[in-house]
Amino acid sequence: MNITLRLQRFDPETAAPVAKYQEYDIEISDVSTVLDAIIKIHEEIDGTVAMRYSCRSSICGSCAVKINGSAALGCKTRLVEVAEEGGTITVEPVGNLPVIKDLISDFQPFWDKIRSISPYLKTTGPEPENERIASNESMANLLTAVNCIMCGCCVSDCTVLEVDPSFIGPAALAKAWRFTSDPRDSATNDRLKYLNDIDGGMWDCTRCLKCIEVCPKQVAPMDRIMEMREAAIEAGNTNTAGYRHTESFYNSVKKNGRLDETRLAIDSAGWTNIPRLLDLAPIGIAAMRKGKLPPLIPHKSEDHKKVQELYERVENDTE
Ligand code: SF4
Ligand code: SF4
Ligand code: FES
Repeated sequence: MNITLRLQRFDPETAAPVAKYQEYDIEISDVSTVLDAIIKIHEEIDGTVAMRYSCRSSICGSCAVKINGSAALGCKTRLVEVAEEGGTITVEPVGNLPVIKDLISDFQPFWDKIRSISPYLKTTGPEPENERIASNESMANLLTAVNCIMCGCCVSDCTVLEVDPSFIGPAALAKAWRFTSDPRDSATNDRLKYLNDIDGGMWDCTRCLKCIEVCPKQVAPMDRIMEMREAAIEAGNTNTAGYRHTESFYNSVKKNGRLDETRLAIDSAGWTNIPRLLDLAPIGIAAMRKGKLPPLIPHKSEDHKKVQELYERVENDTE
């Protein structure tokens, strides 16, 4: 097939480095991948194009790039999946990480965050004579997160990291889940408390689903984060705005069949958190002036009894 690759180029050694795009027209087999096409360009047209890769089999995780705006593995994405005959494919380095050159990003911030969650088993007690035994079921449960190849696709497209680089991010949180869910680990409560308490921890995910969408190994980081939130609450960590937000949401929909947005804001801030409540006051006044302030005493939804029945069914469902 004939295809145009529009590659983002960036050379840090030029006088005033700036990212720009360069197009390459190539003819290549239609079973080829985006990585095959970049290698062809590198070998036959322009040896200065820089790209990181190793296994070419979706195992090492090193060839992650943005393809037409979404993070993906270059070696797993076939050209025909992202362009038609004669079409153009735009390839850029992964997002939310600094660019070193062309399509190569600096993964140091990624690894720093992985290290920060202590990505190894912590055990207590005497060393066993052989290995530490774990049930097949408990290991099968870990398979989702164990499949992570540290490619960074989830981090690249995380919408929170785009605006707040201090968020620990989906890859590190999925890795943390892997250890909090391992029955051999003896630091589960400490891990949960740490990720519950730190700024940029488990409560900063906005559940945008992007990490689930782009993960090439079905780790589903967002689902892992939600499971960790539940575990953190069950372990008694209820001191965060995130937990208060969840609880207020749950209670107001249960009571009224709809969300009480005023109460949600105050509950999330904390009724005794005067500085935070003072921060919210101008927003409330601006909303009132524009007639957008929700009623202070919330109306009940017409169907609120049905909503309560649903709650009862879910709460009584022990399976
Ligand atoms: S679901 Fe959460 S962790 Fe995943 S990309 Fe969205 S904000 Fe980031
Ligand atoms: S969770 Fe998925 S997208 Fe994120 S680093 Fe692991 S394999 Fe890559
Ligand atoms: S080159 Fe290893 S995952 Fe693509």
